[in-house]
Amino acid sequence: MSESRRLFFALALPPALQKRVIRWRAESFDPDAGRPIAAANLHLTLAFLGEISDFKAGVLGDIAGRIQSPSFSLLLDDLGHWPRPGVVWLGTRRAPNALLQLASLLRSHAARNGCHPSTLPFHPHVSLLRGATRPVALPAATPQWTLDASEFGLYESRYHQGRTRYQRLQSWPLVAPSSSSSD
Ligand code: 2AM
Repeated sequence: MSESRRLFFALALPPALQKRVIRWRAESFDPDAGRPIAAANLHLTLAFLGEISDFKAGVLGDIAGRIQSPSFSLLLDDLGHWPRPGVVWLGTRRAPNALLQLASLLRSHAARNGCHPSTLPFHPHVSLLRGATRPVALPAATPQWTLDASEFGLYESRYHQGRTRYQRLQSWPLVAPSSSSSD
């Protein structure tokens, strides 16, 4: 008997950054622009797995636990609006290689284990507003926050009583890059 759950690998935003983001968002967007995503739900998806069985989640969790990927910092200096999914997002103009490689590794393991591969190219972003299907006035200046990623996690998306909640099921450290890298 195996249940299936909607899962994804992601980076979390530290609580201090969550607070900064929601304060700035409240000041910067018209209240009608879209539905604000709750502070605790702010995240950057690395690989979306879809509805998968607990067995498959276990396999992917074991694989994730063996990944030795370096920690990195990401400058959140880009902002955009995708009208079709209705998402306003915060992103980066220069995604670090460590982020791209981690996402690519997780996405390829997911595909090899039968998760439906995403047809869209990986565009690292933190969704800020949903239901933003009409034109949105974006603030002229984008904040330049840094997201220090020292771990990544496996998350479950649950929809209950009209609300989506993301719950972290497991997390794994990213390895601090050695200061004397000779290779
Ligand atoms: P979004 O924020 O751009 O909507 C949980 O739903 C997370 O997985 C969200 O970050 C969401 O991205 C992402 N997600 C949902 N469906 C997806 C899909 N089909 N492909 C890639 N990412 C998806």
